[in-house]
Amino acid sequence: MTDRIDFAALPDDFAWGVATSAYQIEGAVAVDGRAPSIWDTFSHTPGRTDNGDTGDRACEHYHRWREDIGLMRQLGVGAYRFSVAWPRVVPEGDGRVNAAGQSFYDRLVDGLLEAGVAPSVTLYHWDLPQALQDRGGWPVRETAERLAQYASVVAGKLGDRVRHWATLNEPLCSAWIGHLEGRMAPGLTDLTAAVHASYHLLLGHGLAVQAIRAQAPDAGIGIINNLSTVEPATGSEADADAARRMDGHTNRWWLDPVHGRGFPSDMREVYGVELPERAGDAGVLAQPLDWLGLNYYFPAVVAADPSGPPPFARPVRRLHVPRTGMDWEIDANGIETLLLRLTREYGARRLYVTENGSAYPDVVRPEGTVADPERTAYLHQHIAACARAARRGAPLAGYFAWSLMDNFEWAYGYDKRFGLFHVDYATQTRTLKDSGRHYAELIRGHPRRSTPRAA
Ligand code: FCB
Repeated sequence: MTDRIDFAALPDDFAWGVATSAYQIEGAVAVDGRAPSIWDTFSHTPGRTDNGDTGDRACEHYHRWREDIGLMRQLGVGAYRFSVAWPRVVPEGDGRVNAAGQSFYDRLVDGLLEAGVAPSVTLYHWDLPQALQDRGGWPVRETAERLAQYASVVAGKLGDRVRHWATLNEPLCSAWIGHLEGRMAPGLTDLTAAVHASYHLLLGHGLAVQAIRAQAPDAGIGIINNLSTVEPATGSEADADAARRMDGHTNRWWLDPVHGRGFPSDMREVYGVELPERAGDAGVLAQPLDWLGLNYYFPAVVAADPSGPPPFARPVRRLHVPRTGMDWEIDANGIETLLLRLTREYGARRLYVTENGSAYPDVVRPEGTVADPERTAYLHQHIAACARAARRGAPLAGYFAWSLMDNFEWAYGYDKRFGLFHVDYATQTRTLKDSGRHYAELIRGHPRRSTPRAA
């Protein structure tokens, strides 16, 4: 590994972590009172996922969570980012709280703390209760209010032990991929629905921040966005404009409103959809936050696409650049650029890389090892870039590798493997990959590791 990691640039209490999400690992979809989410519906709809894969079993983490905490100990991580399944805790989306579902997370948090792993809870990682979708889902305002009620329930139960809270994971995917591109649940291709969903997701975020604070005043609360650097494909003015629009669509639309800047006016024009704004909302959206989460996977290179859907910019596939098994371009410098942008343009006072990782088609060798040099290099290069950003002033407090183990990769099903542990889905055997070994060595090499603290 050639890139040197500047460990000295990272703070004493840097959080070395791993991340997962509920629907991708838990399985047990009809156990202990869990109701369906939009991802159960979507994955069970023929043609929506590769091989017709669903999260019905996934990694059976709901039953194997103790073993999975053991995997974290093997890596030596100090923090674990997971999401709570809304349809387990409040199965109909509002009203009745399901004690059995709640107590699963209660046991998990206690187990993590006993193992010396700090829990980081994400409230919403895309698994909206189907009952709320049936009442309109994110395009309607009520869903934002329901998110806050659910946040209050979860924070009321776990807030005495969990310090680190995220409201939403990647609202961009919920809104744009779920409601505009249709490649993810709920699978719509409706611009007005998508723009309204984006608005209500961020409104829900603001309301949820208030709800968590009311239950757990010491909580450190953030929001998690997947951002990309955006470059124009050519030097033409049309492509430069396309890159600006894609930057608005991917980055500014999600960052500006939560920083009190409102929704970007250029993008309002691009979408041409009236926002369902009400007096007072802007302040709710811009709740003070303790940290920002960055999920980073790949850079974007775009060309003008006047006849396509908003933002009228299409990704261009550059030749002769390295790519992961997702066909995503690899550019570790992008993570550094984005961390510095969040620091300089948005005044971030604390940052976490809440996801970063790569998929490759791994195989377990007969002797029980997994050689994954590409993933190992990806991990190493991106951590080196994170340390460079920290050296240049980004207040980076932690890094969560995506993912602890292979899991249900949404519409791509089980073929795309992002784990530091390989999962054999037939036997549910977990096998440490070489990249996981490397991560464990890096963590051991950082002399002053500890757990994430709430801001
Ligand atoms: C992100 C998601 C996460 C996982 C990774 C690969 O967009 O937040 O659940 O699917 O991509």
